[in-house]
Amino acid sequence: MSFSPLQWTDTHSALLGVNIDHVATLRNARGGLYPDPVALAALAVEAGADIITFHLREDRRHIRDADVERMKEHIRAPLNFEAAVTDEMVTLIERIRPEHVCLVPERRQEITTEGGLDVRGQLARVKDACARLAAAGSRVSLFIGADPEQIDAAAEAGAPCVELHTGPLANAWWAQDDAAVQAELTRLKQGLAHARGLGLRTHAGHGLALSDTGPAMPWMPTVQRTSSAALIAALPEVMELHIGHALIGHAVMVGLRQAIGDFKAEIVRSRRA
Ligand code: PXP
Repeated sequence: MSFSPLQWTDTHSALLGVNIDHVATLRNARGGLYPDPVALAALAVEAGADIITFHLREDRRHIRDADVERMKEHIRAPLNFEAAVTDEMVTLIERIRPEHVCLVPERRQEITTEGGLDVRGQLARVKDACARLAAAGSRVSLFIGADPEQIDAAAEAGAPCVELHTGPLANAWWAQDDAAVQAELTRLKQGLAHARGLGLRTHAGHGLALSDTGPAMPWMPTVQRTSSAALIAALPEVMELHIGHALIGHAVMVGLRQAIGDFKAEIVRSRRA
């Protein structure tokens, strides 16, 4: 089933793409079926997620091919398929035909996507992938740093969208380095304006978090400033945000009370039965 994405202008705030990779990581830790990232994706849509984002990595460390197939069948929201620029991935995406694709760099040893895609350095390859994916009906975005040269290259490659990498800002925010946060924010604003000037749709993501990270603990930094998510979401050019790790982490923190209550109730009930 295909969905026409909610228009950015319908809401005047950035759309939220929820990245579900970390639920798959949790499931894979025990090699079973639970927790199921596809069930989580359905719940996320019910809760208001505008887009479901996932990264099918070459090593299949979290999301797997069967998850993608099930998502395509069951999830009633646009899918944003993150993938490396390889023939294997482009061929797979041509068959799955997700509404959105985000091309990302990928290195086997990295813990998460570290830098932006070097579009300039492999323009012909990226251009070919963009053309194939557009022909398959997917809207393509390129995940790049807020670097004018890479933004120009993204436009030359024929991508209609760019997702600017907010990882450096997120890291500076966690480190409570306000000068670095401001410098990154300026760089991102310039990048967004540059991309919009070229007619590109502008997204952002990576590492974004809320300030309220749970009960105050002496070993956690006391983060009371504007959240990194809000710093980016406030920028009027940001049409979509893609958030995963901190959102799933927050779900654990805010959902734990209910989970403990449910298990306690089950334990008490079991002897009454
Ligand atoms: N956008 C892209 C292109 C990504 O690769 C990722 C991580 O998979 C994200 C956004 C989400 O990053 P995080 O999990 O740090 O919120």
